[in-house]
Amino acid sequence: MVRTVSKNATETSMEGHFKQELIRRPRRLRRTPAIRGLVRETVLTPEDLIAPLFVIDGEGKPEPVESMPGVRRLTIPDLVRECRELRDLGIPAAALFPRMDPALKDARGTAALDPDGLTLRAVRAVKEAVPELALLTDIALDPFTTHGHDGVLNAAETEVDNDATVEILCEMAVLHARAGVDFTAPSDMMDGRVGAIRKALDAAGFSGTGILAYSVKFASAYYGPFRDAVGSASAAGTRLLDKQGYQLNPANRREALTEASLDEAEGADILMVKPAGAYLDIIRDVREQTRLPVAAYQVSGEYAQIHAAARLGWLDLESIRDESLLAIKRAGADMILTYFAKEAARRSIGGGT
Ligand code: PBG
Repeated sequence: MVRTVSKNATETSMEGHFKQELIRRPRRLRRTPAIRGLVRETVLTPEDLIAPLFVIDGEGKPEPVESMPGVRRLTIPDLVRECRELRDLGIPAAALFPRMDPALKDARGTAALDPDGLTLRAVRAVKEAVPELALLTDIALDPFTTHGHDGVLNAAETEVDNDATVEILCEMAVLHARAGVDFTAPSDMMDGRVGAIRKALDAAGFSGTGILAYSVKFASAYYGPFRDAVGSASAAGTRLLDKQGYQLNPANRREALTEASLDEAEGADILMVKPAGAYLDIIRDVREQTRLPVAAYQVSGEYAQIHAAARLGWLDLESIRDESLLAIKRAGADMILTYFAKEAARRSIGGGT
C-alpha cells in the first residue's frame, strides 16, 4: 500500500520535473506569422532570379515546348516583349538560348560564328529595347552542331576536341561581347576555356564583359527537355546524347570542387552549379570554397518533373516550385537560373507564413 502511493507520487513529480526542465522550446519561434517572419533565415527575391529564354528566327507565333509546360520559343519581337516584362517584375537578368534552323547546322557548328546569327541579333534587339536587363549567352556549340555536342569532334570522331573547341568558343565569346552581352556563359566544360575566353575578351577590348562559368556541370539526365527545346537531341538522333566525356560524373564531389577552383583561377566572375535540386550539397561545397558569387541552374528536367507531378494532381505546383527554389538559395546560391522566374518573382518566397 505504502509502496503503491509512493510510486504514484514519483511518477507525478517526474512529469512535472520534465516540464520544468524543458527550457528550450523551439516551437515558440513558430507560433505566429509575425514571429516566423522575424526568424526566417532565407528569402528569395526577384533580384535573385535569371530567366532562361529560348529564341527562334522568323515572324511566327511562340512555339510551346511540350516537355516544359508554360515555356515557349520566342521570335525576336516576342523576346523583347518578354524581356520588358522581366524587367518590370524586377528580374535583373535573362539567359538566351537559340533554337537553330536544322538547315544551318553542320559538324563544326559554323553558324555559331555567323556575325549576323540569331543569338547576336536577339542580343542587339534586347539591349536596345531593355538595356537595363543583364544578358547572358551560352558559349557552347550544341545548338549549332549536327551531332548535338558542345564542341567539334576529333578526326576519329570519337570525342570532342578540347583545344580546337576552345578556339572557336573564344571567337564566339568576342562576338557576343561585341553584340552587348553582360556575361558570356561557357557551358561546354572544355578544359581551360574560361582562361582562354578571358584573354580573348580582354584582347578585343571587352575587359568589362563578365564570365559566368558553368563550372560544375554534371552529365545529367535532367537536361532532356532542354535538348528538345533547342533541338540538340534530335540533331544527334538520340534523346540520350552522351556528354560524359566532358561533363562531370554525378558521383564526384571532389572533382566538382577542382573544376570550381580552376575556373576561379582562370578568371571566372561567377561560378555556377548545374543541375541544382539534386546537387544541393555541391552548391554548399562551392559556396564554402569560394568568395565569388555562386549561381545555380534549376534545369529543364527539374522544371518538367514538378509540372508533371502537378498535372497528375500528386503535388501542389506553387508550393513545390517555391520550396525547390528556396532550398537552392538556402544551399548557398546567390542567384538562380529557373524557368519559374516570372511566376516566382510575382511573390516573395520565404518559406511560407
Ligand atoms: C548546352 C546546355 C545545356 C543546358 C544549358 N546549356 C544542355 C546540355 O548540356 O546538353 C541545359 C539547361 C536545361 O536543361 O535547362 N551547352
